[in-house]
Amino acid sequence: MKPTGLIKIAALVSGTFVACLALAAESEEFDAAATYKASCYACHSTSQAHAPMLSDAIEWEIRLEKGMDILVQNTINGLNGVMPARGLCTSCSDDDLQAVVEYMVEQSQY
Ligand code: HEC
Repeated sequence: MKPTGLIKIAALVSGTFVACLALAAESEEFDAAATYKASCYACHSTSQAHAPMLSDAIEWEIRLEKGMDILVQNTINGLNGVMPARGLCTSCSDDDLQAVVEYMVEQSQY
């Protein structure tokens, strides 16, 4: 991994760690990986409509520069007419969606 990647991860971790802890405590029942597979995988594993692929570390590194909060907001509201609002997971709460985005980002780092 490149050093800049490490720094970004460190920044991300420090920025979201507290939120993550609170989130984990709140939604223990929620399975981010399973939700990803059910709702997001169809687009995000194939780069359908140029969706950022899970394995694409550089693509996610660029998106992460916006900050985790913005990524989660764009997931909730949809983005550019191609990323559907809530990633089509109508049963997901905002916290659930944040957990899925965090899962996706984790899976996209080497
Ligand atoms: C119908 C296809 C589709 C589905 C389903 C989908 N996405 Fe996306 N997603 C996209 C596309 C396309 C983009 C790129 C949008 C752009 O940058 O213009 C995207 C972008 C994103 C981004 C980056 C947002 C940003 O600000 O750069 C996140 C985070 C994301 N999706 C999360 C999810 C999650 C979580 C789910 C499932 C709950 C999901 N997506 C389901 C197509 C999809």
